[in-house]
Amino acid sequence: MSDKRNDLSDPVEERRALHVTESSIAIAGHPLHAMLVAFPIALTMSVLGADLLYWWTGDPFWTRAAGWAAFGAFLMGVIAGVTGTVELLMVRGIRNRSSSWTHFILAVMLLSVLGANWAWRIGDHEAAVLPVGIIMSFLAAGLTAMTGWHGGKLVFDYQIGTKSAEGTDPGTD
Ligand code: HEM
Repeated sequence: MSDKRNDLSDPVEERRALHVTESSIAIAGHPLHAMLVAFPIALTMSVLGADLLYWWTGDPFWTRAAGWAAFGAFLMGVIAGVTGTVELLMVRGIRNRSSSWTHFILAVMLLSVLGANWAWRIGDHEAAVLPVGIIMSFLAAGLTAMTGWHGGKLVFDYQIGTKSAEGTDPGTD
């Protein structure tokens, strides 16, 4: 009886082009996406912080701060998302890994919530906070944590976006 396991093949191992996971949207080898994601992460957490401070103090200053931070989080999130998406579509080794697409799905859910959280505040930013605004801020913070953690997993666990350690160019097809 033949050993069926010997017939199994790993498509990633078989095709050299799938080893290429190096970031293509980069400045002098430093990926733009990694530089940009700090902004939506920090601004999303700032919206939640400002909402909590408004809830605690009742000072309307925090609702204006939250509105601008929500706008910045959405804008910078979209810009970071564009760089990530170009990377995903252009680099074969990134496109062919399912974990990249998991990150994409998480990120798109996050960007939808960031957009809604900003749009909801246009007009009466003070009335927008309690309870709907702050609920969206908690949701956005949770999704940011998941997306950011998963992005780190792509880089540090799966070496996605990194240069081959062998220093060789496996070529593309
Ligand atoms: C909308 C579509 C997005 C796509 C397609 C995408 C794709 C990627 C890819 C391919 C990587 C691997 C590194 C690289 O190639 O640069 C990555 C890393 C990462 N992503 Fe995204 N991303 C998206 C949005 C976001 C957003 C909105 C956030 C913010 C929470 C985020 C957070 C991260 C983080 C923290 C890393 C790790 C960076 C590092 O440590 O070097 N991503 N992403």
